[in-house]
This record gives sequence, C-alpha cells and structure tokens, in this order.
Amino acid sequence: MKQIDVCLTPELLHLHPIENTIVVVVDVFRATSCMVTAFAYGVAKILPVATLEECRQYRELGHLTAAERDGLKPEGFELDNSPFSYMTGQIAGATVVVTTTNGTLAITRSRSAVKVLIGSFLNLGTLARYLRNQQYDVLVLCAGWKGKPNLEDTLFAGALVEQLQDEFIVNEDSALMALRQFQQARPNLLSYVANSSHVRRLQRLGIQKDIAYCLQTDLYDILPVLRGNVLVAL
Ligand code: MLT
Repeated sequence: MKQIDVCLTPELLHLHPIENTIVVVVDVFRATSCMVTAFAYGVAKILPVATLEECRQYRELGHLTAAERDGLKPEGFELDNSPFSYMTGQIAGATVVVTTTNGTLAITRSRSAVKVLIGSFLNLGTLARYLRNQQYDVLVLCAGWKGKPNLEDTLFAGALVEQLQDEFIVNEDSALMALRQFQQARPNLLSYVANSSHVRRLQRLGIQKDIAYCLQTDLYDILPVLRGNVLVAL
C-alpha cells in the first residue's frame, strides 16, 4: 500500500529519501497559492529560483519576474507574491521567473523527487485525484518560515492526508499530527490561523484579502508539475 508522509519544514527534508517519491510542495501563504492562480489565469510557465540574484539575472535577460522577501516585493521586479497580481491579462502566455522567501526554496530542494507537484487549498481536490492514480508514495513538503514549521502549511498537509488516508498508509506522526490539526481547524480555517505568525506578518504589511483567498478549497482544476526546472500545468 502506498504511504503518505509530511515533512513539516525543508530543514527536515534530509530525513526523507525522495528519489522514488512524489513530493507535493505547499506554501499556502502565498507562493503555491499564487502559482496555482497564475496558471488558472493563463501563465504558460513558472521558473522558480532560490535567490534574488538569480531572478535579477533573468530580469536583465528581459524575462517577466516576480519576487518576495519577508512578504514584500524587493526593488526592481515587476510582480509581487500576491495571487491578485496574477489576475490581470498581463501574464497570459508568459513565462514568469519567481523567487520567494520559502516556497521557491522548497521547490528547488525537491528536484531529485520522482515528481514535484504544487499543492494549495485552491487545487486540493484535483491534486488528491491525481495522486490516487499514481503508484508512488507521497511526501508533503511544507515550506514553513525560514526553516521553522508553520500552521497553514501543516493544515494543508492534514487536509490532503485526510483525503488520501483510505488508499495511503499514514505511518509517521507528522502526518497524523497534521491530520488531527486539520480536523480541529476545519470548521473555520480563517479563525484557526488568525493568530499565526505569517497572518500577523502579512497584516502588519496591510495584506489582508490574500489570507482569506488562499484558504478557499477547490477553486481551480489546475495541477502544476515541475518539468526539469520549469513548472507547467499538467
Ligand atoms: C514564502 O515563500 O515565504 C511566501 O510565499 C511568503 C509570502 O508570499 O508572503
């Protein structure tokens, strides 16, 4: 029977052999929610890079770029990391080079997996359906915050474990903890994360509507997958 496990932060990824595993990267607030939204609004490709320097080099080559550090858009980049910034005609058919504080780092660290998929509440059902039809174990990699676990990514991991627990073994406690936490939070995800560190961080920056938006379930039938270094919609 296939197994599903949860890695609560990229700092623990070395404990999980991923060469024969599908890795689902999640960064609910906001990188992976943004990426799913971008594909829903017609972006052709997303190139996730770990550093601002790499992203700047692509900018100099004339690529459309998006960047975020500590919730804000650094100088010199076109797009920030708000899903709403991708809801314009500007990105249709484009390739966007993206770097964020945690999400893109988690993606670049997962490259040796048999497959890397992008997960968010926005495409939860589509992702679960796809994973049911695959023969591989699954590892949910939570982007967290600068090496530390965070609440929202853990809740997403729990939601996916819940959807797959009838066909996947839940062997490790991190998956069980995430499942139990999600079941507690389910009645009202927004109030459950209200006091979480990144929600407070975003609110301090005057970013509010992104939070409720990223907690919506099954808005899009979209599943981004890594092909080489580039994300495309399956
Ligand atoms: C990240 O990668 O850490 C997040 O996406 C940060 C954010 O967009 O607020």
